[in-house]
Amino acid sequence: MNLHIALLAGDGIGPEVTDQAVKVVNAVAKKFNHSITWTPALTGASAIDEVGEPYPDSTHEICMAADAVLFGAIGHPRYDNDPKATVRPEQGLLKMRQKLGLFANVRPTFTFPSLIDNSPLKRERIEGTDLVILRELTGGIYFGERGRKDDGNTAFDTCKYTRAEIQRLAKLGFEMALGRSKKLCCVDKANVLESSRLWRETVQAMEKDYPEVTVSYEFVDAVAMRLVQWPSSYDVIITENLFGDILTDEASVISGSMGLMPSSSIGVHTSLFEPIHGSYPQAAGKDIANPLATVLSAAMMFEDGFGLKDEAALIREVVNKSLAEGVVTEDLAGKNKAYKTSEVGDWLATHI
Ligand code: IPM
Ligand code: MN
Repeated sequence: MNLHIALLAGDGIGPEVTDQAVKVVNAVAKKFNHSITWTPALTGASAIDEVGEPYPDSTHEICMAADAVLFGAIGHPRYDNDPKATVRPEQGLLKMRQKLGLFANVRPTFTFPSLIDNSPLKRERIEGTDLVILRELTGGIYFGERGRKDDGNTAFDTCKYTRAEIQRLAKLGFEMALGRSKKLCCVDKANVLESSRLWRETVQAMEKDYPEVTVSYEFVDAVAMRLVQWPSSYDVIITENLFGDILTDEASVISGSMGLMPSSSIGVHTSLFEPIHGSYPQAAGKDIANPLATVLSAAMMFEDGFGLKDEAALIREVVNKSLAEGVVTEDLAGKNKAYKTSEVGDWLATHI
């Protein structure tokens, strides 16, 4: 296949980790006779520095014309403690999600047999965990009306959802559950929030179209607790934007390192694949960050973006091999030798 990939490396460790994914993708392409064209584009703080905005139109055009977007991370500490900054890197991410229509964020959580003891949770709690959180990504409080009143002394953010927005996300959830263990959990706060009651009502009405799927409805506060108590009891979780943001960070610690978990964002236009971790500015440029979440995002890109399962399986196999052989970055090395980010990437590409 001829595949065009937009490469949005972004900020912090973004360029280092995407470099490793590029090596791996190119090795896979060579082995399976695909031709890959990479088109780099600016995003995040680095785009603000160069052109004054975090998701410039030129980047959007590159994304729209590509078969997939591979994304690193965005964010820079100089904006974090400046509540008055008018342009922020994160705005680029939100604009990109909105303009590409990426309404569903797919964040899997699974364990690696060789890393079970790296998790802060006990082995018997997490063994067998294999769940997916499907987070709504272009609605809710992230995009609702917000502002200040009373001379700046009152602030508000609004969580708004339409039935259609809930339906399109829930449809993906039902379909995903059908291909897995046929369990779907709708997470909301329907005991308090009207938008949550619309979620529950909408998902309940869809149940009859998927008779094989068992649906449960749970409150987000209870899920926050049960997710670390019995993560293996969940399969597919669907939830709104902010609850999903929080629960996916929580779920990421189950696997033992935030540097391991991939994600995809899908919707109306080009799909996007990215590690769930952020830009980790403390590590930027040091060649120490774990590239596996990005490499595994590239595996998702082959499988879900291009329908190329064997290519994805090979990437996962080689990643498992690197973990088993201890070719890992410092976050996973413990007392053993820590490999550099670039060394892990080279090892993976060679073993592909
Ligand atoms: C994420 C991030 C973003 C979000 C931030 C950087 C805007 O935390 O992708 O989960 O809140 O969605
Ligand atoms: Mn987040």
